Amino acid sequence: MPLRDTPFQTIIEPFRIKVVEPIRFTTREEREQALVAAGYNLFALRSDDVLIDLLTDSGTGAMSSQQWAGMMRGDESYAGSPSFFRFEAAVRGITGLEHILPTHQGRAAERILAGVALKAGDVVPSNTHFDTTRANVEAVGATALDLPIPEGREPGTIHPFKGNMDVAALRRVLSEQRERVPLVMITVTNNSGGGQPVSMANLREVSAACREFGVPLIMDCCRYAENAYFIKLREAGYENSTPREIAQEMFSYVDGATMSAKKDGMANIGGFLALNDDALAEKARSLLILTEGFPTYGGLAGYDLEALAVGFEEALEEPYLRYRLRSIEYLGDRLLEAGVPIVQPTGGHAVYLDAKALLPHVPQAEYPAWALSLVLYLEGGVRSVEIGSVMFGRQPDGSEKPAALELVRLAFPRRTYTQSHVDYLAEVLLHVAALRERVRGVRMVESPEVLRHFSARFEPAHGALIV
Ligand code: F0G
Repeated sequence: MPLRDTPFQTIIEPFRIKVVEPIRFTTREEREQALVAAGYNLFALRSDDVLIDLLTDSGTGAMSSQQWAGMMRGDESYAGSPSFFRFEAAVRGITGLEHILPTHQGRAAERILAGVALKAGDVVPSNTHFDTTRANVEAVGATALDLPIPEGREPGTIHPFKGNMDVAALRRVLSEQRERVPLVMITVTNNSGGGQPVSMANLREVSAACREFGVPLIMDCCRYAENAYFIKLREAGYENSTPREIAQEMFSYVDGATMSAKKDGMANIGGFLALNDDALAEKARSLLILTEGFPTYGGLAGYDLEALAVGFEEALEEPYLRYRLRSIEYLGDRLLEAGVPIVQPTGGHAVYLDAKALLPHVPQAEYPAWALSLVLYLEGGVRSVEIGSVMFGRQPDGSEKPAALELVRLAFPRRTYTQSHVDYLAEVLLHVAALRERVRGVRMVESPEVLRHFSARFEPAHGALIV
């Protein structure tokens, strides 16, 4: 993939570092104790016991000097702050959407959307719902239906746009049960499917189907900039477009968007719900006031809105996107060379290890991806996240069904780690891959009903994680 346009091979970070934050080195013994104390759940670790934290790319990035400068300008007026109007102008300039409601993060936008647009018995198709989206859809008694293309479910299959939605399946749902579908969602990039992009052609076709059936299409646009850059790199006709132009076209096919600005907003907190429909937006605004705040701040500080107004634009800068996608691809290349199974091609914000393929001897009932993520921490102080049967195995009726994929996501915070951190990661991952036959699964000993991966407790199913 032509990610570089110079003869030089070295990937450099397109920034200098002005502020540093120390990271803490621990011993293996300390990490072993930390795991026991955390009930073998990486969400329960104290983050200063983690050396390289790839739990999420959400809200964990470094802000730029321009964003910090913007924060000083933040106006904290309760209503009508100029910071809101700068935020609104930035979002509208990229999305073209009419009503822009700030929220404190993505799931608040999802909850408000679910609150005003869904009811029990509804069906919401998507390429793949992220876990909070699914939980918000299910919380009102509706069904979250994932319709990825078949390639999207096969980790080893190479396809440039594995995030695409299965348009034929969507059309079937719309023609058979149109009255149950109040809206369709599409997640870019498709986080739960491996951070894979959606093509412009697919967006266009999904949009055409929705318009034909008169159903609004809402984009979960957390990683719109990464998706736009993949389109530039991989889809014919977009080579010479800027990421901003591509993003604008992507948004032209939808009627609304939910955003976690903790991703491609390049900030530590924030989000929005954007809608074109006046009546729906009015209802959403009322709910926003009830639970988030006045519509010109929506649960954020004025300085957050300033950081976001700058961040939305910085996320679309090509040198940044090139560096970001390339450092992730570089780690993927190192793993593939060594025969470590990952979701291919590498996604926009993360490398996903295929735990089913790496640990075929660990049954899904013993959560192979969860176990693998624990071993990465134990051996190398690296925190990742399971996207497998712990996250998705519990069905709304309380029964258990193994997830289609058992993945471990190594998500890269934005502008935070350097090339030597990535080299260290590759070394840890290859070391763990060499131990693969000795890795054993875990047993869940305590589990809440909703979003159980955040607080469930586990223990090794065979005495130890590595035997
Ligand atoms: N949609 C997608 C595709 C996401 O990846 C996330 C968050 C959300 C919605 C919810 O946004 O966290 O601001 O409420 N993903 C994070 C992650 C948590 O680690 O992938 P939020």
